[in-house]
Amino acid sequence: MLSEIVDIMSNCRHCVVLTGAGISAESGVPTFRGQDGLWGKFRAEELATMEAFVANPTLVWEWYNWRRELMGKVEPNPGHYAITQLEKLFDRFTLVTQNVDGLHRLAGSERILELHGSIYRNKCASCNQPFADDLHIDPDSIPSCASCGGRIRPDVVWFGEMLDPEIIRTAFEESERCDIFLSIGTSALVHPAASLPAMAKRRGATLVEINLEQTPLSHVVDYFVGEKSGEFMPRLVEQLQGREASK
Ligand code: OAD
Repeated sequence: MLSEIVDIMSNCRHCVVLTGAGISAESGVPTFRGQDGLWGKFRAEELATMEAFVANPTLVWEWYNWRRELMGKVEPNPGHYAITQLEKLFDRFTLVTQNVDGLHRLAGSERILELHGSIYRNKCASCNQPFADDLHIDPDSIPSCASCGGRIRPDVVWFGEMLDPEIIRTAFEESERCDIFLSIGTSALVHPAASLPAMAKRRGATLVEINLEQTPLSHVVDYFVGEKSGEFMPRLVEQLQGREASK
């Protein structure tokens, strides 16, 4: 199957990659779902909603500080680095990630659309103004926005919140136009991100899914690769680079 995918990809010009928590699993960042998933240990509605933040901002900040500490200790894995290399092999390339861990950027990827924000930014919960004073927030003494006095929160998208309209619009535009779309390490359950791969396929792109388990997307993909992204992606990129060199 790898050689078939390489054959197709080496004739493509415009690649879109969508990543989810699975790409960072081999770095040691827990995924959201599955046995060891974060949402299994914590109730999402207690932590990742505006209602939760209004009801208990200290608890929400304690959780985000814990996640920041965890993410601060981890490093990109071969899957992230392979995507960085992939970017160089196409005329047009866009990486759309649902992850807030910053590992793609750390690995060197350049054209990234962070759909769900970044755990390394804060903003005002009332007026959305970025808050750059101090990244670390004391959960017992949460600072206020200088403009409106609102409470400072992490700059990530919570359940029930809209995505940045410009970012999601660009993600849809790129997905509509690409000729190859890779969906990597995402359960393909959370929309609108989960709509991007099927939409790309409807518009004629070849769709490849790399995931340890089947997802709702698996029955529509052209190729399902049931391997760890940190193992498959470097092999894929190595073969594509070989093709490129022999052109
Ligand atoms: P999930 O935790 O829902 O799914 C992770 C997927 O990665 C699963 O399908 C696993 O099978 C797969 N996986 C795990 N390890 C892998 C590996 N080494 N290689 C390949 N695949 C692997 O994470 P997301 O799909 O990213 O949203 O979740 C989407 C959104 O749900 C998150 O961005 C978050 C959450 O609610 C917000 O916080 C807004």
